[in-house]
Amino acid sequence: MDLSIIGSGYVGLVSGACFAEVGHNVICVDNDQRKVDALQAGRIPIYEPGLEEVVQRNVAAGRLRFTNSIEDGVDHSEVVFIAVPTPPQADGSVDLSYIERVAREIAAVLKPEQYRVVVDKSTVPVKTGDKVYETIKRYGKKGAEFDVVSNPEFLREGCAVDDLMHPDRIVIGSKSDRALALMKKLYEPFMAPILVTDINSAELIKHAANSFLALKISYINAVSAICEASGADVEKVADGIGMDKRIGRNFLNAGLGYGGSCFPKDIAAFIAISEQLGVPFTLLKEVERINQSQRERFLKSLRNTLWILRDKKIAVWGLTFKGDTDDIRSSVSIELIKDLIAEGAHVTAYDPKGMDNVRSFKLIPEAKLVNSALEAAQGAEALIIATEWHEFAKVDLNQLKETLHSPLVFDGRNLLDPVTMHHLGFQYHSIGRPGATKS
Ligand code: UGA
Repeated sequence: MDLSIIGSGYVGLVSGACFAEVGHNVICVDNDQRKVDALQAGRIPIYEPGLEEVVQRNVAAGRLRFTNSIEDGVDHSEVVFIAVPTPPQADGSVDLSYIERVAREIAAVLKPEQYRVVVDKSTVPVKTGDKVYETIKRYGKKGAEFDVVSNPEFLREGCAVDDLMHPDRIVIGSKSDRALALMKKLYEPFMAPILVTDINSAELIKHAANSFLALKISYINAVSAICEASGADVEKVADGIGMDKRIGRNFLNAGLGYGGSCFPKDIAAFIAISEQLGVPFTLLKEVERINQSQRERFLKSLRNTLWILRDKKIAVWGLTFKGDTDDIRSSVSIELIKDLIAEGAHVTAYDPKGMDNVRSFKLIPEAKLVNSALEAAQGAEALIIATEWHEFAKVDLNQLKETLHSPLVFDGRNLLDPVTMHHLGFQYHSIGRPGATKS
């Protein structure tokens, strides 16, 4: 099938590449000409395992191309996806101006003799589909035939290609049988269960899913505080409750809290949506509060041990919001480093993929960035593990002990084994496991 995707950000680019991989002809549209040129030449602006190969293979096969022209995309596609950003506003609500602009731009190039399915893939508040439909209707030519469909995306950064190629489910919200038939055909090669809903429900599924996952994380993080206060082990507790199929073990890893470009924004958006609808979802405010307190508790435990942070040399491993990505948006690690710097500590940090972004966005100019985990630890009075990179779990611990000024490790992602660390003579603190400092 012929399809186009407007917006070559994370969701648009990975979706486009994967649709091409299963045999569709895909046009990715982006208004940034430099990005378009780089992508057409096979250069990927983000680090995402496996993506570069998929893009290069499909560009070479002629199934994937990039353009800055919406008209080109809409003209050559039965299905037109919208995958532009929906950033947060100061009050947590969603800025839908990119979506609205794209809807007008699509309307301007729709030809009356061409039926098109306009699919919203961006994360949007419930009822946005209606607005997109009205906008295209208002700005389109008389007789333009189109339907609007909601098709939320559930990929995770770091395993986006695999998530897209093997989805748990495809959600399609549509009130048109004609649009639905095309969408089903489009997704046939993925051989995944398809859930058909109305548009409002499809839009709501995305915010409800992300909020539920964040709730799971905050739940186990709250349990981790109780474990620290009582001497229980949060990992055993997570295993014990996670073995119940009704609960499941996924997303029950305690740590410094969730970050990234999705959860913080989407939870705030869902709270704002519920308030606008007159049914405030107050539980989610507690989810946010617990997430915030996790970092505060960690800092408190660091202060309990180091006493005064001013002029202390602290190493931080990990800058990205999670492992296997170069994304530093709403990274808990960056927030933690800002806290440390505000208290006068000297921070030396290392991340396998995130340092270029940290440098270019100048988020923590006071921190020194170095080229390896051990170099960061050199002479440090404490080491903080802030991101769950596999690389950190493989560091030679004897060498680490010799490299640090004092063998003090604060593991914010429960990456290392407390028993091993104890045997090797480290003073080791982690989240919700015996040995963690009571706050
Ligand atoms: C999340 C969702 O998992 C995707 O399904 C969704 O499509 C995406 O948002 C989106 O809305 O676009 P992502 O933000 O890439 O994906 O990353 P996750 O793997 O969900 O991790 C989010 C944060 O939660 C990270 O900071 C991670 O370290 C943290 N986390 C995750 C925990 O602290 N504990 C866990 O058990 C799992």
